[in-house]
Formats: sequence, C-alpha cells, structure tokens
Amino acid sequence: MTDLDGKCITLGVTGGVAAYKAAELVRLLGKAGARVRVVLTGAGARFVTPVTFQALSGNPVWTDLWDPRASNNMAHIELSRDADAIVVAPASADFLARIAHGLANDLLTTLCLARPRAGVEGAARDCPLLVAPAMNVQMWENPATRRNMDVLRQDGVVVLGPGSGDQACGETGMGRMLEPEELLDDIVAAFLPALLAGRRVLLTAGPTFEPLDPVRGLTNSSSGRMGYALARAAAEAGAQVTLVSGPVSLAAPRGVRRVDVTTAREMHAAVMERLAGQDVFIGVAAVADFRPAEFAVRKIKKGAARLTLDLVANPDILAEVAVRPDRPLCVGFAAESENLDAYAEAKRRAKGLPLVVGNLVHEALGREDSTVVLFDDAGRHPLPPGPKMEVARRIIAHIAAMMPRRAPV
Ligand code: CTP
Repeated sequence: MTDLDGKCITLGVTGGVAAYKAAELVRLLGKAGARVRVVLTGAGARFVTPVTFQALSGNPVWTDLWDPRASNNMAHIELSRDADAIVVAPASADFLARIAHGLANDLLTTLCLARPRAGVEGAARDCPLLVAPAMNVQMWENPATRRNMDVLRQDGVVVLGPGSGDQACGETGMGRMLEPEELLDDIVAAFLPALLAGRRVLLTAGPTFEPLDPVRGLTNSSSGRMGYALARAAAEAGAQVTLVSGPVSLAAPRGVRRVDVTTAREMHAAVMERLAGQDVFIGVAAVADFRPAEFAVRKIKKGAARLTLDLVANPDILAEVAVRPDRPLCVGFAAESENLDAYAEAKRRAKGLPLVVGNLVHEALGREDSTVVLFDDAGRHPLPPGPKMEVARRIIAHIAAMMPRRAPV
C-alpha cells in the first residue's frame, strides 16, 4: 500500500520557471500510487511542453477548454468530477488572482470553479483544491496578492508554501515554490484526517550522547526514525509539533519545530521548557540512563590495563513529566528483548502512563517494517506490522482517540 494508492489527482501547471519542478512532482505522485492527469495553461505550456507531462504521467495532457477529446466537450467537468484533489503547482500570481475572483477564462480556472464541494447540493464529496504559489518576492508581497491569498484561504483552498530562497530572477525571498518532495508530503497529508487539529504535541527522539572526554562519549544505536515518523504523523494529523532530538542524521519533517540537544540533561531541560500548553508528550528517545560522573577535560590516555568509569543516573524525563499536575497525555516506549507484555505493562504502571508502545528489539533490528503492540487501560492492542510511517499514523490515531473531548465552543 502506497501513500496515494488509487487516488486520482488533477495537476494544474501554470506559467512560471518552477514548471520544470512539476515534471518531477508528476513522477513522485505516480510513484506514490496516484493517477495523474495534467492540465497546462497556455503560459505553462511555454515553460514545459505537454509531451513531457504526457510521458511522465502516462495520460493525455489537457490544455484547451474546447478540447474535442472530452465527452460533450466538457473537459472541465470530466477533470474535476472524478478527481480526488486538484493540485496547482506552480500557481502563478495571475492564476491565483483569477481563482480568487471566480474567473473561468481557461480550462484550469474553469475546472477549479466547477470542482465538487461537500455541502453544496448535488456534491457527494469534496474535491480539495491545493495551490503551490511560485512567484517573485515583490509579486508575493504585493498587497493585491496578499488580498487574493486571504480570500483563497477563507474559501478553503489549501496553500502549500511558498518557501523562501534564491529566485530565478536573481532576487532572494518568499515566493519560491516548495520542492517536489515537500509538495508530495503536503499532498499526502491533505488526504489524512485532521485527528489532532489544534493540538500541541511534544516528542523526544534519537539517542543522547554523554561526553566522557573531548573525543569520546556514551551513546546508543537509536536511529531516531520512529520518533521522526511519529512527529511527521502528528503534523500530518494537524498538530503543532515540537521535536526535541538527540544527534541523528535525519531531516526534520515538514512543519515540525526541531530542537537539537546532545545530552540527557539538555533533553530534559528542553522538554521542561516547552511543556506548558502541550496536549501530548511522547517519549521516543533512547535516553541514556547514566552519564559519566566526571567529564575529563583532556583526552583519557590508555596506559592502565583496566579503566573503571564512574556513572551517575540521568533524570527520567518521561517519568518526571508524567507526575506533574499539569501533565499532557503521556506516551512511553518500551523496547524489550523478552517478555514484552509483562515488561511493557510494568513500565506503564511504574511511570503512570496512559499508553506505552512496546516492541521486541530483535524484531526491529535492521528491518524496514515495524511491529509494535500498544498497552493502555483497555489492554493490549497489536498493530499490523508495516512501514514505520504507516505504524506511526496508527499510533497517532490511537492517541487521538484517547484525547479528552473538547467542550464545544
Ligand atoms: N525515558 C526518558 N528518560 C530517561 C529514560 C527513558 O524519558 N532518562 C523514556 C523513553 O523515551 C521511553 C521510556 O522512558 O519512552 C523508556 O523507559 P525506560 O524505563 O527508561 O526504558 P529502558 O531504559 O528500556 O528501561 P530498562 O532498561 O529498565 O528496560
């Protein structure tokens, strides 16, 4: 099962240098399982020809409102009715202005106007519209564009980016289209239920590193991948996510605020500083239980045949958070080598946690797939084994179901 399995996406490409990145986006969408039909505006076709998009999508490319290939000459209806989403990348300033005002003077704007919206009579479902603006910084900052973007957001259009950086015109600033990989992540997220909308989630991930001397330290082999997958899944579910991370070689997931730390004590301080107002705390980090009692300012030289390290206990971050009167919903991890149920449940009770995610370390080693069991007051819940991201989304769904309901406003 891929992230966009069976989804049908109509991809609009308007006029902008970033149109070349849309070609890569078509490829990524296809790889993720989506069926892609490309609609090019006249200006878009000046940057990349229909042949490229046809080859990459494997489908005919549409440019003309009056295309005789469409049944009843209604390409705009055909391309919006059975689409699961319309994505426009790049979306030029001119295109955004036109849809903000409900204009329908070419195929792409017409099909955007004609897309089904839930709640409107006759529409059985919603066809979300996602736009990825791409323009020069002056155009992006222009009050006219600002007004148009406000209108589009109010109308429920999902705006992806833009990012900031070097622009084709030689200037630097906001208005740069997101990279195809970033767009893909946001498109995948748009199809997932916003189970944690308006919630705040704090996580720890990765190993800690406890320095021993200027070149050595105590650490462990945690890759951080499960913590990062959970952070991404929480962000996809609409939460505001902060990830306190030990040293790992992973990029922060999109939209996740990452705080880098090295030692357990730094991780502890970073968590405590950010705890107020959090709805969920998930301790995924493999925190070193002990650190060297002394840091040797100079490199420890070999010489003696035996060396004894004096270690002192580190704070237990999760246990400390879980006993606070203002604690968020606390989730722990238990990586065990045997007796998973007994040890994980004992950990849950010892730390007073509503939920523990347990796994057997030998089942995790070197595997792409994860196998975990959730332990809560209702008992044990084995999750279907699967890729880390899929398992992370299931854990987040379980957490969301445990959250106290909010009083209606
Ligand atoms: N944890 C923490 N701070 C620590 C140690 C652990 O926040 N100093 C969190 C981990 O992020 C994880 C859970 O507590 O969620 C793991 O519990 P722990 O009892 O420390 O597990 P192990 O270290 O595996 O315990 P043991 O060695 O006894 O199995």
